[in-house]
Amino acid sequence: MDDAPQDPQGLDRRDFLKSVGVVAAAGGLTVAGSAAEVQAQASMTLGPYATPWEPADPNIPGRQNVVPVPDDYYIPGRFAGKTVIVTGSARGMGEVAARRLAREGANVVGVDILEELGAKVIDEINAAGGKATFVGGDIVDNAVCEKMVQVAVDTYGGLDGAINNAGVMDALFPDEPIDYPNQKDRVMARFDEAGDEYFDRVVKVNVYGTFYSMRHQIRQMIAQNRGGAIVNVASVAGIRGFGGTVPYVTSKHAVQGMTKTAAIDCAAYGIRVNSVGMGTTLTPMFERAFEIIGQRRETGFADTGIGLYKSMSLLQFSDQQKRGSTAAEQVAIMLFLLSQEASNITGSTYNTDGGFTIY
Ligand SMILES: NC(=O)c1ccc[n+]([C@@H]2O[C@H](COP(=O)([O-])OP(=O)(O)OC[C@H]3O[C@@H](n4cnc5c(N)ncnc54)[C@H](O)[C@@H]3O)[C@@H](O)[C@H]2O)c1
Repeated sequence: MDDAPQDPQGLDRRDFLKSVGVVAAAGGLTVAGSAAEVQAQASMTLGPYATPWEPADPNIPGRQNVVPVPDDYYIPGRFAGKTVIVTGSARGMGEVAARRLAREGANVVGVDILEELGAKVIDEINAAGGKATFVGGDIVDNAVCEKMVQVAVDTYGGLDGAINNAGVMDALFPDEPIDYPNQKDRVMARFDEAGDEYFDRVVKVNVYGTFYSMRHQIRQMIAQNRGGAIVNVASVAGIRGFGGTVPYVTSKHAVQGMTKTAAIDCAAYGIRVNSVGMGTTLTPMFERAFEIIGQRRETGFADTGIGLYKSMSLLQFSDQQKRGSTAAEQVAIMLFLLSQEASNITGSTYNTDGGFTIY
């Protein structure tokens, strides 16, 4: 019988391993093929780094578009035997992270307030051969954060990593239909018009929710005495100001602060804590934010707030189709920071923002 490990989501891992000469080892990879073989596999798997403009740009000969990492790219066996919590796993970047982690061999504990959708994603991961468990609930509830860690311990025997990704830009329930005229007090607004409920909920989820999650994860990792890695999902809004989003900018700056503090408190226990600061990425959150802004403009709102100053990253601006960042591009860096390859990185922020913050 063929006992090669099967890719839980469709690809035949055996072919990949054979052709590239990769031996998957728990928590890491050994590249055993010749340089030419590895190069050949890399170009098959990742494709070219850039593609020419079509039709060519007469003003800039040689103009190229950056090609994103393929949505189905993964590194076989990288997280074999590791258990990782992903908050906000029902959709967007959290969903992509949960699916890719499972493909790379991790036991995944997914957490989301969208309970039906969250359970469906986890069921699909399991049906495809991965190992995943769902915890429904709101990360603002300390008991939910305690439970996510307990489930990791009870189901998989411990906790090795976490991606604290659940976050919100407004006080709407994540799948509440957008109806701006009746939601003004709970969504993006100029500073002087920002509602109490809006400020309170965004800060509660992004700051308190991240804090409660991290606190339980770190307690478990210290008690286990085998190290660990945590990645917090911040934003370019954790580095820069943006119009019309005071609680979001405030909360994402706080996530950056918590990341640095936790890195210091955890270093002696072999636990690394980093964050990613992304720019606009194509997910339901992004689509919903644009829907709110669009409806706000229709009501005649004409301030200089959200979306009206610089909104494109350097790479988006330079791209022929003005392509936004993909969830797969963001998740690639989150997983790198979780992995052994990032063993020398802690307390840092990776600005996964297509160059947004450098110009
Ligand atoms: N999409 C972007 O452009 C962008 C840019 C910068 C940063 N971010 C950050 O990336 C993270 C993921 O964003 P996304 O774009 O994938 O968003 P998304 O809305 O598509 O997904 C977020 C997920 O988190 C869940 N969630 C929200 N509040 C929760 C709570 N209180 N408890 C449990 N689960 C909760 C939602 O139900 C959803 O499944 C967020 O922290 C967001 O702030 C996104």
